[in-house]
Amino acid sequence: MDAVATPASVLRADFPIFERVIDGHPLSYLDSANSAQKSRHMLDTMMSFYTTSYANVHRAVYQLGVEATEAYEGARETVRALIGAASTKEIVFTRDSTEAINLVAHSYGRANLAPGDVIVCTELEHHSNLVPWQVLSQQTGAAIRYVHIDDRGELQLDELDEIARSGNVRLLAVAEQSNSLGTSNPVRVLADWVHEQGGVIVVDGAQSVPHRPTDVTALGADFLVFSGHKLGGPSGAGALYGRRELLEAMPPFLTGGEMIRSVRLSGTTYNELPWRFEAGTPAIAEVVGMGAAIEYLVGVGLDNVQAHEQAITRYALGRLAEVPGITVHGPTEHSRRGGVVPFSLDGVHPHDVAEILGSQGVCVRAGHHCTQPVMERLGLPATTRASFYLYTVPDEIDRMIDGLHRVRRIFA
Ligand SMILES: Cc1ncc(COP(=O)(O)O)c(C=O)c1O
Repeated sequence: MDAVATPASVLRADFPIFERVIDGHPLSYLDSANSAQKSRHMLDTMMSFYTTSYANVHRAVYQLGVEATEAYEGARETVRALIGAASTKEIVFTRDSTEAINLVAHSYGRANLAPGDVIVCTELEHHSNLVPWQVLSQQTGAAIRYVHIDDRGELQLDELDEIARSGNVRLLAVAEQSNSLGTSNPVRVLADWVHEQGGVIVVDGAQSVPHRPTDVTALGADFLVFSGHKLGGPSGAGALYGRRELLEAMPPFLTGGEMIRSVRLSGTTYNELPWRFEAGTPAIAEVVGMGAAIEYLVGVGLDNVQAHEQAITRYALGRLAEVPGITVHGPTEHSRRGGVVPFSLDGVHPHDVAEILGSQGVCVRAGHHCTQPVMERLGLPATTRASFYLYTVPDEIDRMIDGLHRVRRIFA
């Protein structure tokens, strides 16, 4: 059953941070693409876990150890259901998206790529979904090829044919949604293409899993990663989804602790999935917190989150258009973008914009957003970026617009 849409103004009361006042200004938190704020449900779950049920997982037969293991493994089922995976064996807990991508590059990549092979990445990627593939290319001798973007930040898919002719395409890495331009990428089209080439697709869901319904089968994803802190969980917990037969065949990433089955001085055998990829003591309470954050989101309804973000993005684009000297970057069509709006203000450096807005309690990010190739392609030193979530209200956008008028007056 679809969840009933609850207005953002009501949901906001579930997030204690919004009681905060900054220098007499109410908080306008427009930096959720960077990291999302935390619901009371998530905070209470972590507090209760630490105060009543904390112990290390998988190792103890006493009551606390059993409860902690149940909570930790329960979060794995919550993640499985969130993304429509077939089995919890396909869900590996990691620190974040970056670690999950590095796991795939290191383990799958080094075992499966060789000279003559091609890794496909895009010009639009976050450094976390770009640098690991560059390193893999250096380590294996596989070539790396990029799908470039046009002036609006859309992938130029007509480049794929030429890339296919350049070697054996074995892996394609792409974000479902760009963190710096907001572009929604056609993951299913890319998945079908790379599968035709005999390769696999790694989907960076850092900016999509928190914001819309996700189904790994419908996406055609072989691997998918996301970060708990971007969906309202604590920092330090994220997840990797991998198709079971791929994970089964992959060598370990980090070694030691929970990833072993038996250790002899003569050699070691490894644990079964998914624990084979979870070496050492995991981020136990953080994973439990991530599970609680997902429960909260599912309660709101991911389709409601998506619909709200589309509406608030449209509102923000409309209001930004009223400010003289503003250029918005990224796709022009609303349906082609998520709740991320990067912009420039004529004659003012993005850091100055962000600093003045910050003094008014308006939190936006300025910089290259860990996408330096995007900035280079668009000829921009940096942008100011406003990004939204289920708790963003029009009032916060209005305060940003008032702040931008103030910036213009200061720099006039
Ligand atoms: C698209 C994208 N991929 C990957 C990452 C890296 O996420 P994390 O720092 O949580 O590993 C980010 C973070 O902003 C992102 O936006």
